[in-house]
Order: sequence, then structure tokens, then C-alpha cells
Amino acid sequence: MNKLIISKISKSFKSAQHEIKVLDNVCMTLNQGTAVGVIGASGSGKTTFLQILAGLEMPDKGDIFYNDHNLSVNNGKKFNSMRNNLFGYAYQFHYLLDDLTVYENCDIVFKIAGNRDSKKNSSKIMQILEELGIHDRKDSYPYMLSGGEKQRVAIARAIVHKPEFIIMDEPTGNLDQDNAEIIQDLSLKLAKNYNVGIIIATHDLKYAAKLDNVYRIENGELKST
Ligand SMILES: Nc1ncnc2c1ncn2[C@@H]1O[C@H](COP(=O)(O)OP(=O)(O)OP(=O)(O)O)[C@@H](O)[C@H]1O
Ligand SMILES: [Mg+2]
Repeated sequence: MNKLIISKISKSFKSAQHEIKVLDNVCMTLNQGTAVGVIGASGSGKTTFLQILAGLEMPDKGDIFYNDHNLSVNNGKKFNSMRNNLFGYAYQFHYLLDDLTVYENCDIVFKIAGNRDSKKNSSKIMQILEELGIHDRKDSYPYMLSGGEKQRVAIARAIVHKPEFIIMDEPTGNLDQDNAEIIQDLSLKLAKNYNVGIIIATHDLKYAAKLDNVYRIENGELKST
């Protein structure tokens, strides 16, 4: 079983007036096949933590290991390609590309990776869109979709290349109860049926209660609840 080990990560943001210490010596292990929650007040550092985990933000100190392989010491290029294969990321504010259809928003993952096997990619995309119940919207542009549908497209894009780890930043934040439950069940199913390691930042304590482990960020510390 593969795992991500987050070891002694610290991160501060400095402004002209003051410095905010967001993460202070934070440690966590994320195993494949488990779904883990990260809770904490707004501004506590959930997004910062997830972005560092995915390599989208650099920590001031600390390392991220994939098994015994230190991702933090790789040169940028090697790390970037490894990151693309290892991680899927669904952003807090979904960031769909407005000029692309639902299908094209997913296909861009393969294009960025230089994967031109369009037949195989197409069947992967359609399978995921079907699983998420949005296959009939494949030719729609983001402005034509509801919030819940957009969130599902963002998740489809995060999982279409079958990464080992999926990072979801408040995936149910803007959804009604029915749509939130669809996303919650999907994340649990991905962990159990596809052996994916999932880390989910959420404010929804009912969602968190369904997950295998829950951590809280408070005053820069990350603690198991
Ligand atoms: N690029 C940045 N520059 C300066 N400060 C930042 C930056 N990014 C985040 N911060 C600050 O770091 C703290 C943590 O922010 P973060 O976005 O990680 O919180 P969060 O827990 O995800 O909050 P929310 O629940 O509202 O999404 C906040 O005080 C925020 O203002
Ligand atoms: Mg956030």
C-alpha cells in the first residue's frame, strides 16, 4: 500500500505589518484506500495545507514523502510530472475553464500530460461523467451548469486520470443536501472501491464523521480528533 507522509511542515505568510504562522511542525500520513478529513475554522490553514501537500505551494520547512521517496528534494521538472500522475486536485472554487465544455475541461488533464490516446481518454472521461451523473452535460459550457454540476465536473477532472491520491478542498461547500450527499458518497466509494487516498477539507461535521480519520487545524497545529 502506498502512502504520503507529511513530515514537520511549517508555513508562514508575511505581510508588511506582520507574519501569520499558518502551519507549525505539522505531521500526517495518508494511506491509499482511506478517506481523511481536515476541519478547522475559516482561515485556519486547510487550503494552505492541501496546496503544500499537492506541491502547489512550497512550505518554509518540512518534507513530503511518497513512501520512502522525498518529493520535496526533487528538482521541479521531475516533481511536477510525478505530481501530475500521483494527485488529483478539486479546488475550493472549482476553476473550470469557461471556454471549454465539460468534456474538454476533463480532457485537458490528458493534454497537459501529453497523453494523445484520444480513444482511451474519451472512454475514461465518459465513464467518470456517467458515474457522476453528468454525461448528458458533456457538451455544455460551465455557465450553463448549476453549482452542483460544476462541482461534479471539477471532481471528474480531478479523478479522470486515476491518480493514487485525491485532494478535495471543500467539495460540498456550495451544494444543497442532495448534491452534497452525492459527492460525499462518491468520495467514500473512490477510497474503498478504487483504493484511492483522499483528503478532504470541509466545514461539514456530518461529512467528516463518515470519513476514516478526521484532523483539526487550530493555531497552526494539526491534531487527530
Ligand atoms: N498567499 C497568501 N498570502 C498571505 N496570506 C495568505 C495567503 N494564503 C493564505 N493566507 C492566509 O493564511 C491563513 C490560512 O488561509 P487558508 O486559505 O489556508 O485557510 P482555510 O482554512 O482554507 O480557510 P477557509 O475555510 O475560509 O477556506 C489565512 O489567514 C489567510 O489569510
Ligand atoms: Mg480554504
